[in-house]
Amino acid sequence: MEFTTKQIFTVLRTVKHPQQNKDIISLGMVQELTIEGNNVGFTLVFQSDADKMAEPIRKACVQALEKEFGDQIVIRGNIKLKYLKKEDDYSAMKGVKNIIAVASGKGGVGKSTVAVNLAVALANTGAKVALLDADIYGPSVPKMLNIEGERPQVVNENGQELIVPIEKYGLKTLSIGFFVNPDDALIWRGAMATGAIKQLLLQGKWGEIDYMVVDLPPGTGDIHLTIVQTVPVSGGIMVSTPQEMALADVKKAMSMFKQPTIKIPILGVVENMAWFTPEELPDNKYYLFGEGGAKKYAEENGLALLGQIPIVKGVMDGGEKGVPVAANPDSIMGKEFVKLAANVIEAVKKRNSELPPTQMVSITRK
Ligand SMILES: Nc1ncnc2c1ncn2[C@@H]1O[C@H](COP(=O)(O)OP(=O)(O)OP(=O)(O)O)[C@@H](O)[C@H]1O
Ligand SMILES: [Mg+2]
Repeated sequence: MEFTTKQIFTVLRTVKHPQQNKDIISLGMVQELTIEGNNVGFTLVFQSDADKMAEPIRKACVQALEKEFGDQIVIRGNIKLKYLKKEDDYSAMKGVKNIIAVASGKGGVGKSTVAVNLAVALANTGAKVALLDADIYGPSVPKMLNIEGERPQVVNENGQELIVPIEKYGLKTLSIGFFVNPDDALIWRGAMATGAIKQLLLQGKWGEIDYMVVDLPPGTGDIHLTIVQTVPVSGGIMVSTPQEMALADVKKAMSMFKQPTIKIPILGVVENMAWFTPEELPDNKYYLFGEGGAKKYAEENGLALLGQIPIVKGVMDGGEKGVPVAANPDSIMGKEFVKLAANVIEAVKKRNSELPPTQMVSITRK
């Protein structure tokens, strides 16, 4: 007897993927059907190799076909399984204890400056620190650490290709800027950018890390979503200038962390460009944008004010020259970052004692 495609499909329509509650034909999971006399075979296609239903569904197919056609059909051993995506390998992140995401509502408020200097100041406490430049569209970490020309090595470890982070100021760092011309990164979109960020996270040879500081792109978007879906972020830090603190953008960025499906605790806020201090008059503070705004904002929202960073020309020069001000802990600015680092360490400790570890977010897109 020669079976027809229709006969086989009719039977397979009775087999459902229990989690998706649809039959495997409608789901397009049955492919490469071959019929040679009573010898029938096909491939079952699964989205990911973590699909626990793969074997049960294969068995269900055999059962359904044998129930219908009895020993007229030869199907055992003829159903192949194919997976479209390999499950992510998280082993490279295993030694990373705390992941701190540095975010902001608007661009240009000093996220990267705060992230880089915080990472340097944390490393100065003796902690093992990593800095991930997640700003795929405009990476600035390589320049701020004066390691623009570096090209990380790729090594093979237990069958996994790992990227060796660049070490500078006692911290390990990776940025897309090491791999592409920053001007080219600007035009990256969607899958390419999210793929790149996943690779930096999951294929970084990080080793043991106490704090991984992540410098995010401004606002909210695909990169943010990818990160919270890829690794368990312990907490977020919001950077804002005094005049932008109360604006809707900050609220929006905060609510991203607080979403019920994401639920990343906010460790606190950092007020950048809080006041102006001329280098020659280090004790003078000029509040160009008003005083106390951030403190009030933090209090009203039940958040910790982790740090206040003045505007000092040295910060900008440091960024330009690739010598972060925090590398000199005794300078006016260096001192502020020493304080910030101590507060962040405290905030992480508090968070870890009060809350369970962050769960990785799984968001299914329609
Ligand atoms: N406290 C400060 N004092 C003086 N200059 C500062 C200070 N903070 C940041 N800057 C300068 O402001 C500019 C923007 O800072 P930075 O790149 O850190 O912002 P960002 O929020 O990361 O920007 P983007 O949204 O583009 O990533 C830089 O030139 C930086 O040197
Ligand atoms: Mg930046």
